Amino acid sequence: MLTVKSADLKKVKIDTLAVPVCEDKDIHDDPALAAVIKKAFDLKEFKGEKDDCVTLYSLPGIKARRVICRGLGKVEKVDREALRTMAGKTVKNCIRQETADLWLAVPDGNVNDLDALAVLEAMQEGAYLGNHLFDQYKGDKKKKALRTINFRVAGRAVRKLRPISRRVAAVCEGTTLAREWINIPSNDKTPEKLTRSIAGRAKKQGLKVRVLSESQLKQKKMGALLAVAAGSQSKPSLVTLEYKVPGAKKTIALVGKGVTFDSGGLNIKTGNSMVGMKADMSGAAAVAATVIAAAKIKPKINLIGAIPIVENMISGHATRPGDIIRSYAGKTVEIGNTDAEGRLILIDAISYVVKTYKPQYVIDVATLTGACVVALGEKIAGVFSNDEDLAGAIISAGEKTHERCWRMPLPEDYKELLKSEFADMSNIGSTRWGGAIAAALFLSEFTGDAPWAHIDIAGPAYSNKESAYCGAGGTGFGVRLLAELFNRLAK
Ligand code: BES
Ligand code: MN
Ligand code: ZN
Repeated sequence: MLTVKSADLKKVKIDTLAVPVCEDKDIHDDPALAAVIKKAFDLKEFKGEKDDCVTLYSLPGIKARRVICRGLGKVEKVDREALRTMAGKTVKNCIRQETADLWLAVPDGNVNDLDALAVLEAMQEGAYLGNHLFDQYKGDKKKKALRTINFRVAGRAVRKLRPISRRVAAVCEGTTLAREWINIPSNDKTPEKLTRSIAGRAKKQGLKVRVLSESQLKQKKMGALLAVAAGSQSKPSLVTLEYKVPGAKKTIALVGKGVTFDSGGLNIKTGNSMVGMKADMSGAAAVAATVIAAAKIKPKINLIGAIPIVENMISGHATRPGDIIRSYAGKTVEIGNTDAEGRLILIDAISYVVKTYKPQYVIDVATLTGACVVALGEKIAGVFSNDEDLAGAIISAGEKTHERCWRMPLPEDYKELLKSEFADMSNIGSTRWGGAIAAALFLSEFTGDAPWAHIDIAGPAYSNKESAYCGAGGTGFGVRLLAELFNRLAK
């Protein structure tokens, strides 16, 4: 839980007080803090530089048992991400030290170009997300998340600042929900289980939920989705979640790739490339968690979440390279490679939502190609869009949330690479180059006329290493990005 309170540091008993400190400017008004910061600077090991950290004990004139000063560097360099990082590291440190009671001192007034609300929001995000632990498979749960994290602000600012906590908690809870789904191993999130889990969480939040079962998918002739599911013991589904708000002018359809495990199929993944493929449903997790978060923060825009859920496996029933399938939209696709499965489930889900809901925007989120990771690395998503404004809104939402996105091209003439001798299209490009673009161009044939964007999160969806406000594993990338995007599109 996040609280926003004022407190007289001379009187209130606090276990741990954490104070962000700039090397070249005092960003706190409270004289009690000024004295603390001066003490920290008197120690030569603390200069307020980025990542400098010092703990002080038994300070005169302040009731806190310990005060942690954390450097932010030069004030002109401080941005939201620096504050998230500071807060996330502080919380992780407190978890390690089993701190009972943490207060973060929020700077008074503007820091660089951030106003007080932006400063608090960023600190709360870093703290909330840094407090998430995934230990349900550990017998010995050594670490305990903090029960509450307190943000100390000046008395006059409490009323203005306090309301932001609800939004931060709702959105960040979405991020941690997505992380949990991603971290669950594939044996515990078969398509049936993941379907039930998503539908259950969404219903609990009051969303309208529909689950198309395998027989309904067959009736609707979703041949592309079914082709991917064919080799698995588990049955596929297409889950739709609806969030509606009175007075909304627009509907956004969000489509998330939900491959609970990607073995590659008969074009089986080799070497080390299969490990980590439990995370191939990260797009589904982001979309489901975002719509669930939206039910709490109530943006003025209607949302449809469409989540195709399958497992890409091998067996005597598996789809073969060279097979030709008929998609829901009617176009036939020759399977050039069974490992290019994400785009197959996405085209049926995309054409289904376009036809059924006629949305004003379509955005799909998918761990779609290794090629996108080669291009942009593990921290930046690729954005492909047929609409300048939509692409721009996604890029700027990415800058604000630090869920970074980079626009990629959709060159018309590259569509030639997707030609098939026998079917309307092939599911892979005819060269090994430009794989992320080829995948996006394949999707673009099924998006109808609405502005559409494809976000390839194969890089940032998962991290083997922990970072300032995320543990190793699923990152929940996309939830904060999309929630921020709604502010920009709900006009
Ligand atoms: N799920 C993978 C993409 C992926 C790769 C996600 C690495 C996360 C990390 C996707 O289904 C896939 O296998 N793509 C192939 C496409 C190829 C066969 C055209 C790829 O990227 O190699
Ligand atoms: Mn694959
Ligand atoms: Zn995949």
